Amino acid sequence: MSDQKTVLILGGSSDIGHATALRYAQAGWGVWLAARDLASAQRNADDIAARSGRPVAVHALDVMQTERLADFVAQLPALPDTVISMIGELGDQKRAETDSAHAAMIMRTNFEAPSLLLDLFAGRFQARDTGTIVGVSSVAGDRGRGSNYFYGAAKAGFSQYLSGLRNRMALAGKVRVVTVKPGFVRTRMTAHLKLPAPLTVTPDRVAADLYRAAEENGREVIYVAKRFWLVMTIICLLPEPLFKRLKL
Ligand SMILES: NC(=O)c1ccc[n+]([C@@H]2O[C@H](COP(=O)([O-])OP(=O)(O)OC[C@H]3O[C@@H](n4cnc5c(N)ncnc54)[C@H](OP(=O)(O)O)[C@@H]3O)[C@@H](O)[C@H]2O)c1
Repeated sequence: MSDQKTVLILGGSSDIGHATALRYAQAGWGVWLAARDLASAQRNADDIAARSGRPVAVHALDVMQTERLADFVAQLPALPDTVISMIGELGDQKRAETDSAHAAMIMRTNFEAPSLLLDLFAGRFQARDTGTIVGVSSVAGDRGRGSNYFYGAAKAGFSQYLSGLRNRMALAGKVRVVTVKPGFVRTRMTAHLKLPAPLTVTPDRVAADLYRAAEENGREVIYVAKRFWLVMTIICLLPEPLFKRLKL
């Protein structure tokens, strides 16, 4: 039997997922990408295979089809060593304020659906007594802001889910749970936004820090753009009357 480790990346069509998959492949891991947009995931897989010399498999996944998540896990060729959720939708805050279906899509995509799927892996990792679960959340979940509170609330829920799961797994064996808060990242998700350079990182930088935390240095909650930890600590400490006067 092969002793090569495998990583499953949920949201394998994403820009950060692409960079992370390449980082794992270059470290000798077997890589599986799970994606809704199969053509885009296949392009990522071909690029990673060409640059790492390792084959990359693609699996179909629409995480919103929650009734099919157990089947998705069951049809995988094996249980991976590490599973990483890149799944997210920034959505349109203004639209969500008048369109409940859009608001629900943002909240379900960023919180409910990835949490349900990761929990299926958690139970199986616990039974095997090993495995690493990584959730890419966001600093947007650290405090609700008027400019993106549906996305922020969902990421807050996802961060709390990961925190609770980490707490559960700490008492139960060798399963690790890692939360990644990237800060601003230049990807297609943020292509329409003007991002502040000192708080913005590249997908490659997220991939490197994620890999280090998940597979090397044992850290469990990381801010990739380190200055964001300080910024969010200050924002979280602001009293509500002052916070309300800031147009954040
Ligand atoms: N970019 C940033 O500044 C930033 C900052 C903090 C956190 N993040 C988080 O980082 C993660 C990756 O984001 P990114 O910047 O690389 O953007 P991205 O390229 O837009 O990635 C989002 C991923 O989520 C997938 N997804 C959305 N709904 C799905 C569904 N129903 N089923 C399956 N997959 C679904 C997308 O698949 P499709 O290709 O099919 O749409 C895509 O692969 C997200 O969780 C995001 O919230 C990003």
